[in-house]
Amino acid sequence: MKKLDLMALPYVPEALEPVISKETIGFHHGKHLAGYVNNLNGLLEGSPLAGLSLEEIVLKAESGMLNNAGQILNHNLYFGQLAAPKADNKPIGKLAEAITRDFGSFEAFKEEFLKKGATLFGSGWVWLSADKDGKLVITQEPNAANPIQKGLKSLLTFDVWEHAYYLDYQNRRLDYLAALWQIINWEVIESRFTSQ
Ligand SMILES: [Fe+2]
Repeated sequence: MKKLDLMALPYVPEALEPVISKETIGFHHGKHLAGYVNNLNGLLEGSPLAGLSLEEIVLKAESGMLNNAGQILNHNLYFGQLAAPKADNKPIGKLAEAITRDFGSFEAFKEEFLKKGATLFGSGWVWLSADKDGKLVITQEPNAANPIQKGLKSLLTFDVWEHAYYLDYQNRRLDYLAALWQIINWEVIESRFTSQ
């Protein structure tokens, strides 16, 4: 059976500093995500879901397999959307237009997104997704859930599990969430939005 691979980061581990440290990347990608990949590879042995795409596994699996597959999909989207810090970092193209259309402004969108991230109880993810008509929605998803389970297209996500920020921000979750805007690669988010 073909094993799932740990995603390769599209940047060096220190590229996101000072927003996210090399140490956090080392644990978050090298230990936490790698652990989910190992777990899922073990669970898929002999399973009828072996060989399906990660998205298909998330839509079809249950219990432990669903949790591990969901966490891999979520982290692949999270790590894949980050880049070195940039001043005045903001959405581009059709996505920028849709954010203004559906939230009023980028500032209003950010405020709503941070509020959802700050008020998510326990571990989970805050997401920007598009519905089947292309309308944007912000949702809180607990634990390993992904908006594709609600029929949405997942675009942007902030990992609100403590392992994502504790080394750098301790209990200051809102400081971590607010700093993330500097390292979002909006070209990636735009291409997720405009892809079929
Ligand atoms: Fe995480």
